[in-house]
This record gives sequence, structure tokens and C-alpha cells, in this order.
Amino acid sequence: MEPAKLPQETPNIKRPLPHNVEGIPTPTGTIPAEIYRARRHKLMEEMGSGVALIFSADHVGDGHRQDLDFYYLTGLEFESGAALLLAPEDPQYKEILFLSPLDVEDNRWHGNRPILGRAIELGTGIAKVLRTTLLPRMLTNAVLNTANRELVYLGAMVGYTSPIPKQLQVLRDASARILNSRIVDGHEYLPRMRSVHDEHEISIMRKAVDITVEGFRRAMQNVRPKMNESELQYVFESYFRQQGSHCNAYRPIVGSGLNSCVLHYGQNRKIMRDGELVLCDVGCEYEMYASDITRTFPVNGKFTARQAEVYQVVLNAWKAAVAAVKPGVTWVELNDIARKVIDDAGFADDYFHSLGHFVGLNVHDAGLQREPLKAGMVITIEPGIYLANEEIGIRIEDDVLVTETGCEVLSANCPREIAEIEAIMAK
Ligand code: GLY
Ligand code: MN
Ligand code: MN
Repeated sequence: MEPAKLPQETPNIKRPLPHNVEGIPTPTGTIPAEIYRARRHKLMEEMGSGVALIFSADHVGDGHRQDLDFYYLTGLEFESGAALLLAPEDPQYKEILFLSPLDVEDNRWHGNRPILGRAIELGTGIAKVLRTTLLPRMLTNAVLNTANRELVYLGAMVGYTSPIPKQLQVLRDASARILNSRIVDGHEYLPRMRSVHDEHEISIMRKAVDITVEGFRRAMQNVRPKMNESELQYVFESYFRQQGSHCNAYRPIVGSGLNSCVLHYGQNRKIMRDGELVLCDVGCEYEMYASDITRTFPVNGKFTARQAEVYQVVLNAWKAAVAAVKPGVTWVELNDIARKVIDDAGFADDYFHSLGHFVGLNVHDAGLQREPLKAGMVITIEPGIYLANEEIGIRIEDDVLVTETGCEVLSANCPREIAEIEAIMAK
């Protein structure tokens, strides 16, 4: 079957955020609909056979973020209670989007949603769009149209105390009613795809990082003794909002003095004192993509000798790890490299977290840490040393793109050397 014409080829359908003027759901942001379609097709190639189902989040925008697998495959940031069905073997519809039922009275509270029609299929770039009321029947039909009656679970494996994920539960419920069917494991497909970024994603992440870096420069220039941590947080956030970042990628940490040693400090409301360090772990979200940077700097603009000594060890660990980042390297190897620098300097028990993680749509993004790194991945490198009895907590964190030949520190322009930090703070 011919793919549907995409909205950008159709002059009378525009794509302002978050929906077009008719209230039609379309991919938000700058990644075009054909990229989402290519992702769906690649995923179906990986699956080869069977039927998969990816749900959107419920109550998006009401304190809930869109499901990131659903977003990655559709670009639809604001659809709640929707589902995407993928059926690579199906002779008629290999992909069907199910939208939640239309409620005309609800439109008055939450904005206009149109009735189903060709415009929605063009807007989403998905050839068949139905309501979720039809999902149970269509899921069963799709499974019956496969050779082996396989339902492919694409979600994460979770611990036995966690609730059974909705996607898995629905597949189990459907499978229980389809004779000779079975659920097969596809949980690695999406993390493997999502962790290697294409040029569109990398340019968005560069933007997220650039905004965050400028936030750090402003924070370094504006911090002073007697300022509240929350005011420093506001220096970052006011700049982020000005630059089109609608929210932070995670709860910011602005911790001074003893708070710099608390890994998940988030109260951010202490008065910062002369002579203290302040650890800022802050990142803006831009077009759904995260940035994640940490810098530690002296509130009064000048490191003490002891602060500088510990800082330099963390920086040396950071440099050793970054120098080793290239395709084929494993996370275990990178962790060992950073740890050795810190252990050799006598701080073995003062570094107690791992070196980093994947970054993408989420700050701790999908990816397979047991597999070697590949070009196109974006990771953090973030060693730290925490000496609570001295009120010295230091972490240096950057976002690093793995390239064909090594890596590029996306946040390279964020002051990192002691002299650089002191220089920008003196201005
Ligand atoms: N900001 C969370 C982290 O650094 O992992
Ligand atoms: Mn991080
Ligand atoms: Mn961080």
C-alpha cells in the first residue's frame, strides 16, 4: 500500500504547536513526520513478524509526560490514552494509530479534538487512525493475520515488586483469548534504536546543551555570598524559558556547602556562604530532548587550596574517561578508568556513583549499558568526590557525543578548568 501523503507536502495543512488550527494531532517540534515513519519501519524490520502495541501516557500535560517510546515513534507529544499498533506481516495495515474517544463536551475543557478523517491521517502521517474502542478487536485480528500468532513485548523488564506494565498486561490479556498465541521478547529493540541518535536529534540536543551551558555561564557570573540557592536556580531557569525551553530535563540540584555532598539534593533554598562551593546539576529540556550538566564552583569566585586540590582530582578522572570514549568501548572500561584516577589520589570511598548514562528524550535515557558504545550515542561523563566532613562535594558532568573516531564534548564551552571558572567569575 502507498504511504499516506505527509502534512508538509500538503499545503493546506499546517503544523503549528501542539496541534494545527483544526486541532489535528501532528508531530510537534522540528523532526518531520517521515522520520517517525522511518523509525516505525525500522522497528518493524527488527521485529520481522508478530504484533506490537505501544501506549501513550494517560493524562499527558496534567503532571504526566508523554510515553517516550510512543513519542519516539509518532512525534505526538500531547495525545493521552492513545496506542500505536505495529504489525509488519499484516497485508493491509502495518501501522494503526488508535486515539482516545472523542467527547464533544470534554472539548470545552481541554480544547477542540476533531472527528476522525483523512486530515488526521495526513496530520499524523499514519495511514490508518481509529478510536481505542476498536483496539481489542483489531489487536486480535492483527494477531490472527500473523503466521505464528506472536505478540511482541517492546517495554522494559521490571522487578517483581513493580506493577505489571500496561503493555505487557494487555498482551497477556489478548494472548489468553487467542489460541496458540504467545508473547515474545522485544524489549531490547527500542533502547537499541533510541540510544543511537540521528542528525535531527543531535542538532536538537546541541541546542539543549548550548542553552544549558549559557545558563551555567550566567550562574557563575551572578552567584555571590548571601544569595539563596533558589535565586541561583532562577538565573538558569529564566534564561532557559527565554530561549524556548519549556521545562527542565530533571529536578535541578543547586547545593552549597554540605548540600553539595547530597547526591539528590533538591530543596535548593539555603543561603550560600562565603567560602563554600556550590554544586549545580541543571539541564534544560528542548523539544523533548534533555541536557544534563554539572559544575561545581566557589560562591565567592575563588577556590581554596583544598577545594582546588579535590577539584583537580575529579577533573583528572573526567579527562581520563573522556579521552577513552570511542565506539567499541564498554561502560565497565570507562568506569574503571575514572575510578582508578580517584582511587590513586586517595579518595576511593568518596566516589560512590557510576560514571554516567545515556541521554536523549530522557535524562537517564533508554540504552543497553552492557553493550559497547556506538557512534551517535550521547552519554554523560560525571565523576565526583564527596567529603561531607569538609563540606566539599564536587562533580563535573558533561554531555558527550560518541563519534566514528572518538567523541565530541557537546558542552565543551561550559567552563571546567579551575582557571577558566575563576576567570569568568571575576568578570
Ligand atoms: N541530573 C541527574 C544525573 O546527573 O544523572
Ligand atoms: Mn547525569
Ligand atoms: Mn546531572
